[in-house]
Amino acid sequence: MASHMELLEIAATVAQRAGGFAVDRRSHGVSVAETKSSPIDIVTQVDRDTESLIRGILADYRPDDGFYGEEGEADAGSSGLTWVVDPIDGTVNFLYDIPAWSVSVAVVEGGVDPSTWTVLAGAVVNPVAGELYTAAAGEGAWLGDRPLHVNDGVELDRALVATGFGYVRERKERQGRLVAELLPRIRDVRRIGSAALDLSAVGAGRLDAFYETGLNPWDHAAGGLVAAEAGARIGGIGGAPGGADMLIAAPPSLFDQLERAIAEHWEA
Ligand code: IPD
Repeated sequence: MASHMELLEIAATVAQRAGGFAVDRRSHGVSVAETKSSPIDIVTQVDRDTESLIRGILADYRPDDGFYGEEGEADAGSSGLTWVVDPIDGTVNFLYDIPAWSVSVAVVEGGVDPSTWTVLAGAVVNPVAGELYTAAAGEGAWLGDRPLHVNDGVELDRALVATGFGYVRERKERQGRLVAELLPRIRDVRRIGSAALDLSAVGAGRLDAFYETGLNPWDHAAGGLVAAEAGARIGGIGGAPGGADMLIAAPPSLFDQLERAIAEHWEA
């Protein structure tokens, strides 16, 4: 089997090529092609075409691997490895030309359920900023060439915490009540608009922590590995693994404080 670093090389190459493609397509304008779970859950043609490009490149490099992307049909493959891809994470930012969106490419072992998978390698590129985050299991995480480490030793009342809200209106009401409870207990909140970038930023120490409920596997596969390899603890509430119910990423010293505050106020 390819080493984690070899898989990372592929993830990074694919993410960067796809990022360049999406930037170029964005320069010719962009519009909503379709809505998904709700009128504000949008897909652009560029999301679809970027995913097709990624799928094609990965099929050349690794024809036996599975593929699980945000926009297309899943394919289990035969190798036991699956590429988990968000062609454009932060589609709303992409639509509005806010330069905070990313291409997220991860490769996992053990299926596509985040509670059981092992993420082997991941790359998150913000092509507008020219920033590439990478991580390989057991090897570390990097921003470009720079090894990453989370901000350890930050107390909850000094923590800069990012979150996101997704597209389900009823859940947003509960998310709004949770964030209103947390806001006076932390330094401040950021809502960047790309979970992959949020998680990578935790790894880079640009944020102290991140949490979100309602994430899909492709939103956090690569960024979660960047955060974890930079020293973050990733999990849910009450010892549950991080996933769709709740995903919290924070340095070990901050995780329990944040998890308790969230658990106290999250109306699951
Ligand atoms: C979304 C972004 C956003 C998060 C949403 C995700 P998408 O992904 O990561 O920050 O809050 O939950 O769905 O739809 O832009 O790929």
